Amino acid sequence: RIAGPGALVFFGITGDLARKKLMPAVYDLANRGLLPPNFAIVGFGRRDWTAQDFADQAREWILASARTPFNETVFAQLAAGMRFISGAFDDDGAYEQLAATLDELAESRSTGRNHAFYLSIPPSWFEVVCQKLSEHKLAKDKNPGWERVVIEKPFGHDLASARELNQIVESVFPPDAVFRIDHYLGKETVQNLLALRFGNQMFEPLWNNKYVDHVQITMAEDIGIGGRASYYDGVGAARDVIQNHLLQLLALTAMEEPISFDADHLRSEKEKVLTAVKLPEDLGAASARGQYTSGWQGAEEVVGFLDEEGFNPKSKTETYAAVKLEINTRRWSGVPFYLRAGKRLGRRVTEIAVVFKKAPNLLFTDHEDDEFGQNAFVIRVQPDEGATIRFSSKVPGTQMEIRDVTMDFGYGNAFTESSPEAYERLILDVLLGEPPLFPRHEEVEQSWRILDPFEEYWASLPTQPDPYAPGSWGPESSDELMAKDGRTWRRP
Ligand code: BG6
Repeated sequence: RIAGPGALVFFGITGDLARKKLMPAVYDLANRGLLPPNFAIVGFGRRDWTAQDFADQAREWILASARTPFNETVFAQLAAGMRFISGAFDDDGAYEQLAATLDELAESRSTGRNHAFYLSIPPSWFEVVCQKLSEHKLAKDKNPGWERVVIEKPFGHDLASARELNQIVESVFPPDAVFRIDHYLGKETVQNLLALRFGNQMFEPLWNNKYVDHVQITMAEDIGIGGRASYYDGVGAARDVIQNHLLQLLALTAMEEPISFDADHLRSEKEKVLTAVKLPEDLGAASARGQYTSGWQGAEEVVGFLDEEGFNPKSKTETYAAVKLEINTRRWSGVPFYLRAGKRLGRRVTEIAVVFKKAPNLLFTDHEDDEFGQNAFVIRVQPDEGATIRFSSKVPGTQMEIRDVTMDFGYGNAFTESSPEAYERLILDVLLGEPPLFPRHEEVEQSWRILDPFEEYWASLPTQPDPYAPGSWGPESSDELMAKDGRTWRRP
């Protein structure tokens, strides 16, 4: 799988994401031999840069963040195809320049007029950029060649705004030319969920309400949100990561087996299961939210969320959210899916834990009241990529004593191959025109349908989100959410 000729146009090239992830990922692809030597990259931004300035900056970003070693020859080849368009996103002159540059690159770099427009910009600009691309005949360029548009989340703020956004983008680019990035789908371990579930015979028979007690999906981060006030205030943990990453993980965990991994088959199954998500009647009892206070994160003293620079000190934005969902299908009816995400938690970890029911007739009753005997299959998405199965075993000795043990699969031990960064995989797929890993607008809208009622409920509360200490596992209300059901959160 090697990309063909083309030009990748980055809007918002000087932003954080482009500097830390996108340019390094493009370089890594080139370094792994997955881009053609004459590939072209166009930066579009407000800075007054020349192509040389852009290349100099790109070199620094790559040196700081690329995964593969720096290779002068590879970089020189890439840099020869770099151009910079200096202008505002609504500046017609800049789009004329862009059109001329793409003409020039079609000649000098034989791009075949294949153009991918990557919008790493605030969503409020999506409409303008799409319209300008259309007006300047770049959204449907001269033949031959293809045009694709890549959009970064957030895909809207709620269902209504997501619909509007989808309409705008898809009025300019046909649906199969729109690539919505959810970088979790680019992660090796997330794709491996499909392999684990559908490439093996031993898990699937147990993957249903007869054997599964509940599922816990956790995305814990130890970082705070210093420096991201302009994005995060008014967004919060649920909109930031539950609406997209965690609901995608839920969809992959719970969906039926697709007929194939074709984009349409895979995405239809995800959409179907998201459509079957049932909202709880009592939203308060089925959710929790919190804000981290000041305190200690390990050896580091950290400020509380409300004292982070740029945030309204009365902000009700949550930095932790947990929700309980059910899925109305024959397979899952009665099995709660608990999703939680938070900043400044005990450690950085993302995992999916499928927790099984206890054996119906526990012979070893000493431990009946705790988690003993409750098998679990845990897919460790990051950082310690792999999977764990928990089961009971006899403790060596003359007594029949039983203890829970784990059986581990770790990527580091099992494979010598290294995992590509999520953005490498996704950018390559955009260039190859392979859409399975990019959510369709229906999935995005279903996810908002699920989240909106929680958001509305939280917004109606007069109180602040519940406080929790940095380095903890979230507010007490989140533990209570589980306790009400006689369950506990895992401590990964
Ligand atoms: C982003 C969120 O989508 O994912 C961030 O906006 C979050 O708030 C990030 O920190 C986490 O990504 P990863 O790949 O480090 O888990």
